[in-house]
Amino acid sequence: VNQANGVKGLADLHPPSVPHQYIQPHQARLDHTKILPQESIPIIDFTNWDDPHVQDSIFDAATKWGFFQIVNHGIPFKALDDIKVVVHRFFELPAEEKKRLKENSPPEVVRLATSFSPNAESVLEWKDYLQLVYASEEKIQSHWPAICKDQALEYMKHAEVLIRKLLKVLLKKLNVKELDNAREHTLMGSMILGLNYYPACPDPEVVAGVGPHSDISSITVLLQDDIGGLYVRGSDGDSWIYVPPVEGALVINIGDVLQILSNEKYKSIEHRVVANRSETRISIPIFVNPAPDVVVGPLAEVLENGDEPKYKPVLYSDYFKYFFSKAHDGKKTIQFAM
Ligand code: SIN
Ligand code: FE2
Repeated sequence: VNQANGVKGLADLHPPSVPHQYIQPHQARLDHTKILPQESIPIIDFTNWDDPHVQDSIFDAATKWGFFQIVNHGIPFKALDDIKVVVHRFFELPAEEKKRLKENSPPEVVRLATSFSPNAESVLEWKDYLQLVYASEEKIQSHWPAICKDQALEYMKHAEVLIRKLLKVLLKKLNVKELDNAREHTLMGSMILGLNYYPACPDPEVVAGVGPHSDISSITVLLQDDIGGLYVRGSDGDSWIYVPPVEGALVINIGDVLQILSNEKYKSIEHRVVANRSETRISIPIFVNPAPDVVVGPLAEVLENGDEPKYKPVLYSDYFKYFFSKAHDGKKTIQFAM
């Protein structure tokens, strides 16, 4: 398998069956009898986001489900459409061009990869991705590939406004009064825009688009296209719930960092992606992460009533490194902070 052009390069050869490197053992595949077709995560209208009723429904979703969709979030439809278009355009670039880009970009800002952590995985995931680090210094964004730079910047400009609102609501419910500079550093001090590409797969049942994992972010803001494939863990810890594409909506999920900061009030829920047999699927997550130098531990405000801390403080850059040092393994990463 030529890994230089990722799964896209492989899929373009139209193999009649899936190469062995991508075939998951049976116990790692999605068991369709475990899907709860009658369940779904909440869909919240974000129009009046500072209305207490709306804030209550966000709090309920973050505590019970760890996952919800929002509509009327304030990001213009055009910005959503434009970013989706350039994801296809980027991955359809000639292999040599992507290779050149990979070689000439600073890896701490632009990361083009396949699978998840190929060196640590015994089976590869059916996914290619580009990660772009977003920072307030304009200089960082100057390294983003020209083919998607303007659209990605426009999307992030709008998304940042939404992210502040979401964090304000989530913090308020933890008795944290404001999102000041220090809190911003802790919750959104480093953001990563991901462009995910899942080519059509001749046998989607045997591969993992993305294996079960929880995100290591504070929150993740995900834009998915209309193909579908995302499943989240049901509250029994054994079942799976499908997250249907909703036109114009964004999927919001709590990451490990907010589970730790909130001392488990908010839940960082496992999720996974199933590839599609006939169509390429794309998704665009924003990982809203702490700055690398942040020490992550339960907030003083949530321990005020005498609760025992369920986590010990960890340096975020260590947590991040640990996540990428192993294959996706469900909810295990958070044990690093226990
Ligand atoms: C992920 O959770 O890593 C990707 C989610 C998606 O593609 O829908
Ligand atoms: Fe994820």
